[in-house]
Amino acid sequence: MPLRLLIYILIIAASIETIAWGAVEFIYPPQSSVVTAPGHLILKFNQIDATSLRITHNGVVGDPVEVGSPEYRKLFHDYFIAQALWDPAVNRMVVDLFNGGQKIESAGISVFYAPEGADQKPPPEYTTTTLHRPEKELLCQPCHVMNPTPAQMNSSVEKNNPCYICHKKMLAVKYVHGPAGTYSCGYCHSSKGSPKHAVPKRGAALCYECHADMAVQVKKKKFIHGPIEAGMCDACHDPHGSDNEGQLLKPINEICLSCHGHIRGQVHVVRVSGGETHPLSGKVDPSKQGSGRQMSCISCHSPHGGNVRYFFTNNAEDRMTLCQVCHNK
Ligand code: HEC
Ligand code: HEC
Ligand code: HEC
Ligand code: HEC
Ligand code: HEC
Ligand code: HEC
Ligand code: HEC
Ligand code: HEC
Repeated sequence: MPLRLLIYILIIAASIETIAWGAVEFIYPPQSSVVTAPGHLILKFNQIDATSLRITHNGVVGDPVEVGSPEYRKLFHDYFIAQALWDPAVNRMVVDLFNGGQKIESAGISVFYAPEGADQKPPPEYTTTTLHRPEKELLCQPCHVMNPTPAQMNSSVEKNNPCYICHKKMLAVKYVHGPAGTYSCGYCHSSKGSPKHAVPKRGAALCYECHADMAVQVKKKKFIHGPIEAGMCDACHDPHGSDNEGQLLKPINEICLSCHGHIRGQVHVVRVSGGETHPLSGKVDPSKQGSGRQMSCISCHSPHGGNVRYFFTNNAEDRMTLCQVCHNK
């Protein structure tokens, strides 16, 4: 068959497919996009007679969700909005629409999930995406405030805050960062950013605007920890909050070992009876009496730096002085 004819037939086949499959629109994330954080799945099903919807994610068939009740339609019309938990790398998602027991529509997408620090890079057919683009925001406008006034932006009342309603999940954590907790999203994010709501300032330059005292303290230290010297505050801290004290991205030892992995499985500090390493976790830290905090890397090393080598806590000049912080007192 001549090549041109083959392409022609393929185009017809493809357009038949869009007619049969095209009613469900994947608003976010769109087909062949890369997502870098867990977020939402937003679709518009465009089918007046749909009564329920079912999502199959990487072969796992979900329970049907009712979308046909008058209560549902009053709030969401033909939108479906859910939290999505992506698997690393390729996520294949199929949405089936039903009217009663009858399947009336199917549509699918592939999304690539690449959390920060992931080993696997997305193949070239996957491209980055953003939600806050004019053509997408237009769809949300009927029910959400997309271009808040300065007064709305500065509102520290939860229900009035224009960002909170869609991003509330990110604040549902144990340790919320001060300005995120007061909904001062606009302090760090700019509606004039590119893309919209991008953060114009990054790393230490942003953090030191409010933590100026820390900037002064760090400068005075004789030994500054590598990533602090490099201004990489976000290597360890989440700007919004997390379930770990100090809004750390992971529990302390995991964070430290993500860069100092050689310490894992090696004798650190001293070999104790039985050939084991000195406890680095799992025991109460005697130097923080009363707080009940457990031993961790920061029991002995200050995380940002110090005036002695290895940034020992209490500025202990040498190993012996360090040991005495907890032993033989
Ligand atoms: C027909 C009205 C309607 C439209 C259009 C609409 N939404 Fe919503 N959306 C709602 C309602 C109602 C809620 C629930 C609000 C609440 O929790 O108080 C909601 C909640 C949300 C949430 C929070 C879900 C959660 O995590 O709890 C997100 C995210 C969201 N919408 C995104 C969008 C985006 C993005 C668009 C545009 C592409 C959009 N919505 C368009 C009505 C709508
Ligand atoms: C209608 C719901 C909605 C509102 C209102 C909203 N967002 Fe978003 N935003 C989203 C969704 C959905 C995403 C995609 C990530 C996700 O799935 O949660 C997103 C993504 C983002 C991103 C990541 C970059 C991007 O464009 O994908 C930033 C930053 C952001 N929003 C900031 C804000 C700020 C600041 C406000 C308040 C001025 C705000 N958003 C209001 C729904 C909303
Ligand atoms: C202290 C500064 C700061 C504050 C306050 C802040 N953010 Fe952010 N936000 C950031 C930084 C930094 C990033 C990472 C940007 C990047 O790496 O692209 C970010 C990323 C995001 C993202 C992208 C998804 C993610 O988690 O990486 C969303 C959505 C977002 N912020 C929403 C908000 C909302 C909503 C508020 C208010 C409740 C808020 N932010 C308050 C600094 C801040
Ligand atoms: C708009 C001002 C502002 C900016 C910008 C800011 N912070 Fe904060 N930060 C605060 C406030 C306010 C607190 C709460 C003060 C307190 O409770 O001691 C806080 C608390 C913290 C804490 C917890 C302190 C504790 O004792 O638990 C950490 C960690 C932190 N910020 C890190 C950062 C990092 C990292 C950045 C840069 C991404 C940053 N901050 C940017 C205002 C800011
Ligand atoms: C190597 C990881 C790491 C980096 C990088 C880092 N921090 Fe920290 N930070 C920590 C740890 C660990 C704590 C202690 C948390 C705790 O007490 O549980 C902490 C505590 C804090 C606190 C609470 C008060 C204090 O001094 O103990 C602030 C504020 C803070 N960091 C800001 C910053 C800023 C600003 C930057 C960037 C200049 C930064 N951090 C970079 C790990 C880090
Ligand atoms: C983002 C990567 C990164 C993280 C996370 C990190 N470090 Fe480091 N650390 C470095 C770099 C880079 C250096 C400087 C180069 C070197 O001396 O190895 C360093 C140096 C050190 C040193 C001094 C080493 C020496 O030989 O003088 C100690 C001690 C240390 N880190 C402890 C920690 C602790 C404790 C944590 C967790 C709170 C931590 N690090 C988290 C990257 C990291
Ligand atoms: C009980 C105290 C103590 C604890 C807890 C501790 N360290 Fe150390 N660390 C030391 C001492 C002491 C040294 C100095 C080297 C030596 O004499 O063994 C050191 C040296 C280091 C060095 C520089 C030498 C090297 O091997 O690269 C790094 C990096 C380091 N520690 C990281 C960590 C990390 C990561 C953790 C948590 C998993 C941790 N430390 C927990 C006491 C401690
Ligand atoms: C931040 C507190 C802290 C520091 C600093 C510290 N240790 Fe420990 N050490 C502990 C804790 C907690 C245990 C576990 C005690 C237990 O099992 O009840 C321990 C156990 C030991 C043991 C095992 C013996 C026993 O009692 O079970 C030895 C040996 C030891 N440490 C030596 C050292 C030496 C040497 C140094 C200095 C290089 C040092 N430690 C620094 C907290 C510390």
